[in-house]
Amino acid sequence: MIFETHAHYDDEAFAEDREGLLKAMPESGVGRIVNIGASPASCRTTMELMEKYEFVYGALGIHPSETAALNEGLFSELKEQCRHKKCVAVGEIGLDYYWQEPEREIQKNWFMRQMQLAGELHLPVVIHSREAAMDTIEIMKAAHAEEIGGVIHCFSYTKETAEVFLKMGFYIGIGGVVTFKNAKKLKEAVEYIPVERLVVETDSPYLAPEPYRGKRNDSAKIPLVINEIARIKQLLPQEVEKITWENACALYRM
Ligand code: NI
Repeated sequence: MIFETHAHYDDEAFAEDREGLLKAMPESGVGRIVNIGASPASCRTTMELMEKYEFVYGALGIHPSETAALNEGLFSELKEQCRHKKCVAVGEIGLDYYWQEPEREIQKNWFMRQMQLAGELHLPVVIHSREAAMDTIEIMKAAHAEEIGGVIHCFSYTKETAEVFLKMGFYIGIGGVVTFKNAKKLKEAVEYIPVERLVVETDSPYLAPEPYRGKRNDSAKIPLVINEIARIKQLLPQEVEKITWENACALYRM
């Protein structure tokens, strides 16, 4: 079975066919899905999805690009939501310097606060880090991330940076980008990272693998990601599927 570690089925891209698509997932070999909250609204929708579908779990948190609207009231609401028995992580949280907004200080402050929340609730974290490797590592070290644990989702850095996250005990999330022809740096990182520390994801509706690049993504396309990892690691796809399932269960402590 495939363990989809990162999807956004609350997204409006699924407004027309969400129910049918999710119901068919087990038949496509997708045994578990973690839907990832990114804003207060998407955390509420993630709660609905995990209550509705037995195989859907949730990670609840505020994405760095959504932190400008955060306040103490919303943060308290998040804390309460994270106590739900099917909430398996705090996330996605982190830093995104690709965009100018929100200011870096605002992003850093809420990243730190949400790291501390995860520590307090004994939950792992799902980290989104884009063009912000140095500051991400600095905050993770300050928050004692090695005691919290989690995943660096949609990993986009070099193998040298992967080494730093691996030393902190983190898993590395790999999605459709690994199938892109120009993803040389990522393919090298996948070759370097031990298979015992890889998990697979889509980031649906985004980042569909080849040959669907640019189209809407969904978890049934993960075999294309698994095939590419298997090719790079010189393993059988079934082996990669089984190992990444076990890794994801360990990551989310299920
Ligand atoms: Ni995401």
